[in-house]
Amino acid sequence: MKALFDVLAPDDPDFALASAIDADRLPAHIAIIMDGNGRWARRRNLPRVAGHKAGIQPVRTTVETCARLGLRALTLYAFSVENWKRPRAEVETLWRLLRIYLRSELDVMHRHDIRFTAIGRLDALPGFVREELDSTIESTAANRGMQLNLAINYGGRAELVDAVRALIEDGGPIDEDAISARLYTAGMPDPDLLIRTSGEMRVSNFLLWQIAYAELYVTETLWPDFTRGELLRAVLDYQKRDRRFGGIREAVRLDSMEAAAVRTQ
Ligand code: FPP
Repeated sequence: MKALFDVLAPDDPDFALASAIDADRLPAHIAIIMDGNGRWARRRNLPRVAGHKAGIQPVRTTVETCARLGLRALTLYAFSVENWKRPRAEVETLWRLLRIYLRSELDVMHRHDIRFTAIGRLDALPGFVREELDSTIESTAANRGMQLNLAINYGGRAELVDAVRALIEDGGPIDEDAISARLYTAGMPDPDLLIRTSGEMRVSNFLLWQIAYAELYVTETLWPDFTRGELLRAVLDYQKRDRRFGGIREAVRLDSMEAAAVRTQ
C-alpha cells in the first residue's frame, strides 16, 4: 500500500480509494477476464484490433497497481483455447501485441520485482511468441515480488485434463491437493477475487478449479476503459464481502453458545 501512495498525490481521485483499502485484508491473488475490446472498438467505428491495442494500457496500469498493492499473484486471461476461432488476422495481431507488451514491460517487471509466468497450452503457440515468453520467464525468474501470470491458449477444462493425465502418470493418492499440485497454478494461492469487465455474467472456462471460493466482481466497463480507480473499487468491494467458505459467519461464537447451552441442559 505504501508503494501505491508513492505515486498518488493527495488531490488524485484514487488517493481516497487507496486510503480506504485495508492493507491487512488484501486479496492474495486477483484474476481478471479482460473482456470488451471488440465492443470498445465497434463503438468508435474502429477495427476490433484497435480495441486490443487500446487494451494494453489497462494491462500496464493493472499490473503496476497490483504490484504496488503488494498482491502475491495476478492472473490475466489474454487468450483462451476457444479464441483460435477468431479471424486469423486478429489472432496474429494479438500475438504481435503480446510481443510488444512483453518487450516494453520487462524493465517495469524488474523495477517492481515481478516474476512473470505464462499458463496454458503453450506448446501450440507460434515459435516467436514462445521464445518471447520463455525469455521473459527466464529473465524475471529470480524476482521475488508479485507473480504475474498470463493465461494464453488457456482453458480451465484443458488444464484439468492435463492435471488428471499427470496424476495418472505419477500415480499416488487422488485428492484435492494432488490435483491442485498438477494445475498450471501449482504453488500459488487460489484467486480470492475474480474481476470480469464488460458486464457478462460468465466465467468462460477460466481457472475453473481455482475460483471455487473466489468473490466475483463484474463491471460494465469495457477492458480498454478499465482504470486504476476501478481496480481499487473492486478491491474495496471485495473487502466488504462476508467470506464464509461454506461455514457461517459467527461459527466461533455459535460454537461457544451451543457448548454453553449443552452445559446448562
Ligand atoms: C476480449 O475482448 C479480449 C481478448 C480476447 C484479448 C485480451 C487482449 C488484450 C487485453 C490486449 C493485450 C494484452 C496483452 C497481455 C498484451 P473481446 O475481443 O472478446 O471483446 P468483445 O467481447 O467486445 O468482442
